[in-house]
Amino acid sequence: MTSQLMTKLPDFLNARQMDADLGLLILDIASSCISISDAVRKGALANILGSAGTGNVQGETQQKLDIFANELLLKSNENTGRLAAMASEENEEIYPTQISSGNYLLLFDPLDGSSNIDVNVSIGTIFSILEKKSSDQVCEQDFLQPGSEQVAAGYVLYGPQTILVLTTGSGVNMFTLDQENQQFLLTNENIQIPKDTKEFAINMSNMRHWAPPVGRYVNECLAGSTGIRKKDFNMRWIASMVADVHRILIRGGVFMYPWDQREPNKPGKLRLMYEANPMSFLIEQAGGSSTNGKSRILTIQPSQLHERVSVILGSENEVNLIMNYHNNNLSGEIDGK
Ligand code: AHG
Ligand code: MN
Ligand code: MN
Repeated sequence: MTSQLMTKLPDFLNARQMDADLGLLILDIASSCISISDAVRKGALANILGSAGTGNVQGETQQKLDIFANELLLKSNENTGRLAAMASEENEEIYPTQISSGNYLLLFDPLDGSSNIDVNVSIGTIFSILEKKSSDQVCEQDFLQPGSEQVAAGYVLYGPQTILVLTTGSGVNMFTLDQENQQFLLTNENIQIPKDTKEFAINMSNMRHWAPPVGRYVNECLAGSTGIRKKDFNMRWIASMVADVHRILIRGGVFMYPWDQREPNKPGKLRLMYEANPMSFLIEQAGGSSTNGKSRILTIQPSQLHERVSVILGSENEVNLIMNYHNNNLSGEIDGK
């Protein structure tokens, strides 16, 4: 199909008969991400690479692009009237909008995969949309809803192509940015993740810190066709969750960033509200599963905005196996049993 015949994002949203403000909010986010994509493509030419020398609430050093993407999303969405407030991985507090009468709350990781910016590897923006349920003045409590309450979620991947992946609760659809006309066109409809896979994604350098069920699972994958799984596995780790999740949506796989002993008091590295919830919504809508090892991520009641969580998501049968190892505390041979 030629690009002239492809469905444009605004037409796709109109056909879904969703609340008009929600459709417009999704278009606002898409438009902000087109601007971020333009800056990413320019790189050094726009003086956008390198460290900003500042730190964020997560205790991480901010890159110039983290700050650029964050400011762009905040500024371009504060006057639309569609949002009551925003919350960002890069801001300690919630960000009430100028016209705070809007019905929606927007949460985002403005730039996911910060360590990949300077090496020209795929990065992205992840977003999650909630409804503001109380009529009181907006406060952090309004945001503390389980992921199952999301009305829409998605990401924009700045890779060889810029791709928007979106769910509004009825399947997952992908749109590719037509650079010439600065518009997103529908390119993959109703994505379904294969139930089985031979591919896993985890940062193997943390192996000695993992909990036994995770170690058992990975060891069994590594044992390949001569081991209990009786098949050879492949491994990928891009270190941008957007890019790893995108691969899983396209061809299956399992992604893990589990709790580990480096920081035993934190549930994990990834953030529940900006990363795990929107990605879990997409994965489940595409027929996959997402868990913290013990329970479904989308059912977790957040107690704070910047809460972290252990993440295991992807092909359903594989995620169920890992969950079984956790729930029954099956550590296999790695703890000497
Ligand atoms: P961010 O750039 O928003 O801080 O997120 C990075 C996350 C995630 O995208 C990725 O899967 C993970 O951190 C990579 O962590 P390691 O460098 O520990 O592998
Ligand atoms: Mn991130
Ligand atoms: Mn980030």
